[in-house]
Amino acid sequence: MAKSRIQFICQNCGTVHQRWAGKCDSCGEWNTLVEEGTAGGIGSGPAQARNARKGRAVALTTLSGDIEDAPRIASGIGELDRATGGGFVRGSALLIGGDPGIGKSTLLTQAAAALAQQGHRIIYVSGEEAVAQIRLRAQRLGAATSPVELAAETNVEDILATITEGKRPDLVILDSIQTLWTDLADSAPGTVTQVRASAQAMIRYAKSTGAAVVLVGHVTKEGQIAGPRVVEHMVDGVLYFEGEGGHHYRILRTVKNRFGPTDEIGVFEMSDKGLREVANPSELFLGERHAKSPGAAVFAGMEGTRPVLVEIQALVAPSPLGTPRRAVVGWDNARLSMVLAVLEAHCGVRFSQHDVYLNVAGGYRISEPAADLAVAAALVSSLTGLALPADCVYFGEISLSGAVRQVAHAQQRLKEAEKLGFGSAVLPLGSEEINGGIGAGAFRPTDLADLVARIAGSRRSDAQEHD
Ligand code: TYD
Ligand code: MG
Repeated sequence: MAKSRIQFICQNCGTVHQRWAGKCDSCGEWNTLVEEGTAGGIGSGPAQARNARKGRAVALTTLSGDIEDAPRIASGIGELDRATGGGFVRGSALLIGGDPGIGKSTLLTQAAAALAQQGHRIIYVSGEEAVAQIRLRAQRLGAATSPVELAAETNVEDILATITEGKRPDLVILDSIQTLWTDLADSAPGTVTQVRASAQAMIRYAKSTGAAVVLVGHVTKEGQIAGPRVVEHMVDGVLYFEGEGGHHYRILRTVKNRFGPTDEIGVFEMSDKGLREVANPSELFLGERHAKSPGAAVFAGMEGTRPVLVEIQALVAPSPLGTPRRAVVGWDNARLSMVLAVLEAHCGVRFSQHDVYLNVAGGYRISEPAADLAVAAALVSSLTGLALPADCVYFGEISLSGAVRQVAHAQQRLKEAEKLGFGSAVLPLGSEEINGGIGAGAFRPTDLADLVARIAGSRRSDAQEHD
């Protein structure tokens, strides 16, 4: 009989397996399959049959009509509102994921306090911490007097009963999704089945009442805790809170947003009084710059609608190994190989006897191909031992033929560089119209060999200067 069938569910990706295995076929993770009974499980056939009831007719409606409130509630924390696309959307569910200890509860406590101050009804349900702990944090954040309603609870039915009482809340925060459990699923809290069922119940609540729901999810690189990944496609928005160990700044990155742009980031700095907004991230990622050290180039990048300047550091050193080492932090490995190959093939710069290390300062992560030119400049500078001008920014994509290709938002990148005191730039030829400023006197190579020649040529002009 199918009724008591046992299934094995991958705790990382949620794939259902009929047999236990050491490795999940679907996501390739090891030791993630956990036995879960299907009887009573949400979405499983037998359970549905058991709980079957006659359907209730719902009222059909039209596309036009009254929308009750302003659809968004802005927290007033600029960086958070930027990442959510203008504030929390009523009737939607948002997942905020991140490593444990990165500051998710801190951010949401601050947001909750700010919103409650504005007169919104905010409910904060914590399944991880006791009320006393949350109060302590609120005190530290200077938010203790804010009228946030607080509960320490993990059962979804109890939570729903609590929040449906009285005036409809504007925002419900559930910290975290992994601690929730519903009577409807009989596996342990934290398993994929429970996470999915609990999330479903809360999302249904959001849609039916028009309250905004925020789910917090822990992500570990090993996928040990049931993946919020299974929740990702159920919610309307996914934000990831990232940061590097040892660095104080945190980035709130939009991964999915049904109501706004997905390429925005919010930047914060963790202080002893909670998260502080960083309105100008460039200052953070540029760090202390030492003029005249070879191997460093400043990339003028874009994050969504905002320019971000960041230093790229390269170290090229003779290798004792037969196969030299290539190590990258904060950029794409394959992209580095490509830039190295182009430098070798089209510019005659050889790296085959050298180890190459590339690092993006401050633990920042770049995904734009526009960083190619800055990376190439840093590599050539390190190899030749010739420092690049300290007041110069670089951007441009490099194609396999060695040509330097245009990238979008040249004007904005240059403006940001100017604002931060940079005096020159290297950018692709034929970029959009550049109006004055440092763009006017910029060096604009048509191909990478031009840039290499310029960097190598600086040896001569340097020598002349110092003579
Ligand atoms: P927390 O918000 O509890 O992380 P998460 O909910 O993502 O697990 O933040 C935990 C860390 O933040 C902890 O190591 C202490 C630090 N922190 C500060 O540095 N300053 C503060 O004001 C607060 C509240 C926390
Ligand atoms: Mg927490």
